[in-house]
Amino acid sequence: MNKIRILGIVGSLRKDSYNRQLALAAKQLVGDRAEFELLEYNDIPFMNQDIEFPAPEAVRRIREQVKASDGIWFFTPEYNHFFPGVLKNLLDWLSRPIGEKEPQVLAGKPAAISGITPGMSGTGIAQDHLVTLISALNMVVMNVPRLTIPNALQQVDEQGKLALKGSYKYLERQADAFLGFVQKTFR
Ligand code: FNR
Repeated sequence: MNKIRILGIVGSLRKDSYNRQLALAAKQLVGDRAEFELLEYNDIPFMNQDIEFPAPEAVRRIREQVKASDGIWFFTPEYNHFFPGVLKNLLDWLSRPIGEKEPQVLAGKPAAISGITPGMSGTGIAQDHLVTLISALNMVVMNVPRLTIPNALQQVDEQGKLALKGSYKYLERQADAFLGFVQKTFR
C-alpha cells in the first residue's frame, strides 16, 4: 500500500513563524509513517473573479497538491480571534470548482487542526472559525484531538527557536490520531 500523503498548510507567511516551526516538528514526528509536505502558497493572488478562469498558474499548482493529498493538517495562528486572511484567501481559491466537470478539491479530505500563539488563547477561537469554514466545504474534520498551544515564548530555546518542551507529547498524540483518522476516513 502506498504511504499516506499529508499536506501541511500553515496560516502564516512569516519566515520564523511558530506555526511553521510546529508544522516542521509534526513532519519530523510523523517521520517515515507518511509523506508530509508543506504547501507553499505565498505566490497566489487575492481571489478575484476577474482572474478566476483560467486559473493562475500558482492556483493550479496548489490545487494539484491538495488533490494529490490524503489528508490536510492545518497549523494556524490566531489574528484578532480569527484565522489569518492569507489562509481565508487560500481556502477561497480552493473552494471553487476547477471547471464544469471537476468539483472543488477539499471535499471529503480529512483535516486536522493545530495552532500556537505567544498569547493565552492557544488559537482555539481561530480554530473554531476554521472548523466552521472547512466543514462547510465538506472536509472531514478530526475534532478530537485538536492542538492549542498558548504561551509559545515559554517553549523556545536560547536561539528563539521553538523547542516544544511541554507540548511535544500532545503533538505526538495528534499525529498518531490523525494518521489513524486518515486511514479510516480515506482508505
Ligand atoms: C496577532 N496575535 C494574536 N494572538 C492571539 O493569541 N490572539 C489574537 O487574536 C491575535 N491577534 C493578532 C492580530 C494580528 C494582526 C497579528 C499580526 C498578530 C499575535 C500572534 O499570535 C503572533 O504574532 C504569532 O506569532 C503569529 O503566528 P506565527 O506567525 O508565529 O505563526
